[in-house]
Amino acid sequence: PPHAPATIRREDYQQPAWLVPEVALDFALGLEATRVEARLSVARNPAGNGSPTLRLAGDGITAESVAVDGAPHGAWKMDGPDLLVDLPGEVHEVTIVTWTNPAANSQLMGLYASNGMLCTQCEAEGFRRITFHPDRPDVLSIYRVRMSGTKAQFPVLLSNGNCTARGEGADGTHWAEWYDPWPKPSYLFALVAGDLVANHDTFTTISGRTVDLNIWVRDGDQDRTHHAMQALKDSMKWDEEAFGREYDLDLFNIVAVSDFNMGAMENKGLNVFNTRYILADPDTATDMDYDGIEGVVAHEYFHNWSGNRVTCRDWFQLSLKEGFTVLRDQLFSQDMGSEAVKRIEDVRILRAAQFPEDSGPLAHPIRPDSYQEISNFYTATVYNKGAEVIRMMRTMVGPERFRKGTDLYFDRHDGEAATCEDFVKAIEDGAGADLGQFRRWYAQAGTPRVEARMDFAEGVATVTLTQTVPPTPGQPGKQPVVIPLRLALFDRASGANRGEELVVLREPSMQVSFAGFAERPVLSINRGFSAPIALDAGQATADLVFLAAHDDDPFARYEAMQQLVVQHLIGLVGGAMLCQAERDAGREAIGRALEAVIGDPALDDLMRGELMILPGETYLAEQLAVADPGVIHEEREGLKAWLGAQLRDQLIALHERASAVPYGLSAEARGARKIKTQALVYLAAGAPEVAADLAVQQYDAADNMTDRQGALMVLAGLDTPLREVKLAAFHQRYAGNALVIDKWFSLQAGSLHPRVVDHVKALSGHPDFTLTNPNRVRSLYMAFTAPHAFHAQGGEGYRMIADLIVALDPINPQTAARFVAPLGRWRRVEPMRSALMRAELERIAATPGLSKDTFEQVSKSLG
Ligand code: ARG
Ligand code: ZN
Repeated sequence: PPHAPATIRREDYQQPAWLVPEVALDFALGLEATRVEARLSVARNPAGNGSPTLRLAGDGITAESVAVDGAPHGAWKMDGPDLLVDLPGEVHEVTIVTWTNPAANSQLMGLYASNGMLCTQCEAEGFRRITFHPDRPDVLSIYRVRMSGTKAQFPVLLSNGNCTARGEGADGTHWAEWYDPWPKPSYLFALVAGDLVANHDTFTTISGRTVDLNIWVRDGDQDRTHHAMQALKDSMKWDEEAFGREYDLDLFNIVAVSDFNMGAMENKGLNVFNTRYILADPDTATDMDYDGIEGVVAHEYFHNWSGNRVTCRDWFQLSLKEGFTVLRDQLFSQDMGSEAVKRIEDVRILRAAQFPEDSGPLAHPIRPDSYQEISNFYTATVYNKGAEVIRMMRTMVGPERFRKGTDLYFDRHDGEAATCEDFVKAIEDGAGADLGQFRRWYAQAGTPRVEARMDFAEGVATVTLTQTVPPTPGQPGKQPVVIPLRLALFDRASGANRGEELVVLREPSMQVSFAGFAERPVLSINRGFSAPIALDAGQATADLVFLAAHDDDPFARYEAMQQLVVQHLIGLVGGAMLCQAERDAGREAIGRALEAVIGDPALDDLMRGELMILPGETYLAEQLAVADPGVIHEEREGLKAWLGAQLRDQLIALHERASAVPYGLSAEARGARKIKTQALVYLAAGAPEVAADLAVQQYDAADNMTDRQGALMVLAGLDTPLREVKLAAFHQRYAGNALVIDKWFSLQAGSLHPRVVDHVKALSGHPDFTLTNPNRVRSLYMAFTAPHAFHAQGGEGYRMIADLIVALDPINPQTAARFVAPLGRWRRVEPMRSALMRAELERIAATPGLSKDTFEQVSKSLG
């Protein structure tokens, strides 16, 4: 078996022994061979350990030469991947020449080739694949970059900061020099060279400076960059107003690349994006894609302050920049569109992606204590729970005081590599709050559970709140956390409430009383999802029906609908002995609530669409210690079918009404498209023939991707000959458009069709499929891990994902490791499937030469 990679611990942090105030890089660019000459000005750190040895990290590179202060230096040596140079004095200049082969770099970390262009990804530890360097975020340098290459191959040469000079060389080459005046860590370095065209625009900052904006894409894609450009300008303006942050260079470049491990990267002045988060037009992008672009463009832009101007001391502090920046992009998107809908979407993502992390073998606090491979910690916990934790601080102190806290944070730590503790302290000082106990949110993993029970006697409603934080790997015992709960009590007769209160639960349990009610009120709690907890409010079905119809907090209304369905389905699958009458009553209540949602004239369609979405299978499974995914799927589909059949006429009418709304990007038009496909989803379960007809109609009439994809998704799950016809038509229409072909793979892999496993097997051999493009891999296999087919009874789904991990690991370990988590949930699955999942994990673990990335995830999953 492979031996375990070293574990890095947060408590072992030490100041760097050497600082690197300046870096000069000279690239001789070639797709198959790029020469890199790095000149590092190094200075002994007075706060360091005083070691005369300069230790520079490397990964997969060798030094061709090393010089110190201009003279060749023979006395360097390697220590594993690191290069060591002994230096006699306090200040030196170390020059190192290395070579890399970007075309062979299938990991997509460091310098790599994508479609004939060169680009970089350095976060977290990719810079060491380009040249030897301390490559840790607390070493900040001013970068000067020179690059030269063939003009024909690389007409555009970009790096961070501003272009200071360019010129022609011999034999059809040219060169450019870039200078970034802002000191930055190596993970923010970027270089792009290729045949690109720009959509150019400008933005005038609040102090009157004009910033040139460019979005660089392949020729032919310019017309699909307008939404991203608008999002960029909106973000720049919003950050000035909402957080007082102004842009600090005269140039802001974005480059879209089609081979990219993640969503995008905030390199200083040169953001690099997955094409998926840049390119959009109505014919090829859905409304969700449009929202994704707006959110990610904002996210990367906001990093300029939360991440770049103030960066992280070490990678344990990742949530310092990611949690905060996610919160900032969420608040931005709330302001740009529907606040209520955005909040609901964010909670849905948290529950679908983060809650399972928190309750599984890979659970970690938002500020982890240790890691083997940091790439494995770019998680929903660090990002999304991290955002929720900061949102709670904002809820407790209020937006104005919170802003005072963030102003102080930016002011106090500008130009520094800071810690999560620095952030909390700044909020504490700036907002004037005591966040002592609150800090436990940074240290403890696991989703706190809160039980709320209301007693009513003599006009007084007493709410008893009890919290427990469940044990997680390495953290058997937990302390109570600070839980801000927005709460309201509704008068049943009038349907009104007496205003909202913020109750802060700090102890294991507490009671709050509210007097003056004529009858027992209805409790609405954790409104707006004010705390990222699992709540058991023990509400009666009648109360949930009431809140689903009357709650004036949109999230709480959504939550009541969800809870209605969760309680019903968990009652069915959780082994509760329900008689037929109880089952029927639960179903009827949901049916009436859904009918009210469909018909409520006061609801806008975007919100109506949210309220119509049933809780997902993963979230349902989360409610049980051990779940049978097959039964959950059956029961959920059964309910959907019953609702579709019961409300058939209303759903058909809804589809018809929405179909009359012409295409546009207004909330009204987007809402219409959302409920149109929602209606089809229910009909597909309850009245498949009707759904097939309507879906074909919708597909044929579609003048936009949202309608087309929605219709095709429904058809892909049905057993109708039209399924093949429309899938083929779609493929033909979009042949060559990678992002749309990704959708074509996803639709089939995530479909409700009974033979999905066979489909995915066949698709993995399709000429358009490749393991070298992460978007394509995810489009086929991530979609597949979500639904029932992954949990196919014989274990074929598990085997397929394990085979993928084994095949992908040598090519792209970062992406391969992402597929371990679905198998890692084996302890929470019924015994038959559990054994099959575990066996696949063991098979992966026994594979020789496993990457650090996959090794860490698999060994932790096996526990
Ligand atoms: N900092 C980037 C973002 O969230 C993510 C980059 C992560 N890259 C990686 N290879 N782990 O905006
Ligand atoms: Zn980020």
